[in-house]
Amino acid sequence: MTANAQESFAAWCIRQQGRLEVALTDAIPVSGPTRLGEAMRHATLGGGKRLRALLALAAAEAVAGGADGLQTAEAAAALRAACALELIHAYSLVHDDMPCMDNDVLRRGKPTVHVAYGEAMALLAGDALQTLAFETLTPPDGSVNPCVQAALCGLLARASGHQGMAGGQALDLASVGVRLDEKQLRLMHRLKTGALLAASVTMGAACVPDRPASARDALARFGEAVGLAFQVVDDILDVTADTATLGKTVGKDAADDKPTYVSVLGLQRSRAYAHTLHQQALDALDASGLSFTTRLRDLTALVVQREK
Ligand code: IPE
Ligand code: IPE
Ligand code: MG
Ligand code: MG
Ligand code: MG
Repeated sequence: MTANAQESFAAWCIRQQGRLEVALTDAIPVSGPTRLGEAMRHATLGGGKRLRALLALAAAEAVAGGADGLQTAEAAAALRAACALELIHAYSLVHDDMPCMDNDVLRRGKPTVHVAYGEAMALLAGDALQTLAFETLTPPDGSVNPCVQAALCGLLARASGHQGMAGGQALDLASVGVRLDEKQLRLMHRLKTGALLAASVTMGAACVPDRPASARDALARFGEAVGLAFQVVDDILDVTADTATLGKTVGKDAADDKPTYVSVLGLQRSRAYAHTLHQQALDALDASGLSFTTRLRDLTALVVQREK
């Protein structure tokens, strides 16, 4: 076993979160004549669990057989993929919180971007974070293999757009006050949240191009299970957690009459479903044939058992 494999999960998370903070800080411009850069930094830096980024880094390590198996260019691509995912995620949160969507005033324990900078600047900060994600994936310095750049851009674009996050957000807005059945709810959650989490896994894996197809398919199934589990737990926490712990206002889903797993299945069955998805994710890892999946297993437990 390598020294890296012996690093505890908690230490690994802290180390990776530190690298991500540095890379994201470098990527986002400091404020120029307007406050756009400042608003982008407010949205992205100094908070967040970085789950999507950690999934991407862990998937790259898994496919490479451990961090020591990653070549320099693959490790550089994985860090860029991880940052790009967090930039898209931050953009999605800025827009999700705006008055035209969920109208939330608190995010990561801070005022939301439109509260701090105004609605127009929040709109632009979200737009600029989205394009910065793709700038991050396409460095002009040749440090990332062009085929890997193209693959990462395609995966991220498809997970974020009309057949992914944005499409799911449209379904979410159209579902206010509507009784969805479980199938409709699952589709909405798979798109609005699951797609980007699933892409986190496939993008991490895509940083190591000569991976076996069987591992790729199993990892895709893993990502889908984790992605859906994530939003089931988000719905549960909106009911069971407190605002201080969560860093965002609790009870908003019921107040806004949004269909959620809790409103459709009830709390107990939602918890059972999160447990089922956890097991499905672990089964997919077992089927992957990969030997170094410990980080992905620990991240799955974190997604399902988290309290914030
Ligand atoms: C919150 O995501 C928004 C959803 C997609 C439900 P996270 O819970 O991952 O938010 P941060 O990044 O840790 O703040
Ligand atoms: C947000 O879902 C999904 C996104 C694409 C941002 P929610 O609206 O449930 O996320 P929170 O609860 O505000 O973080
Ligand atoms: Mg929302
Ligand atoms: Mg919201
Ligand atoms: Mg929510």
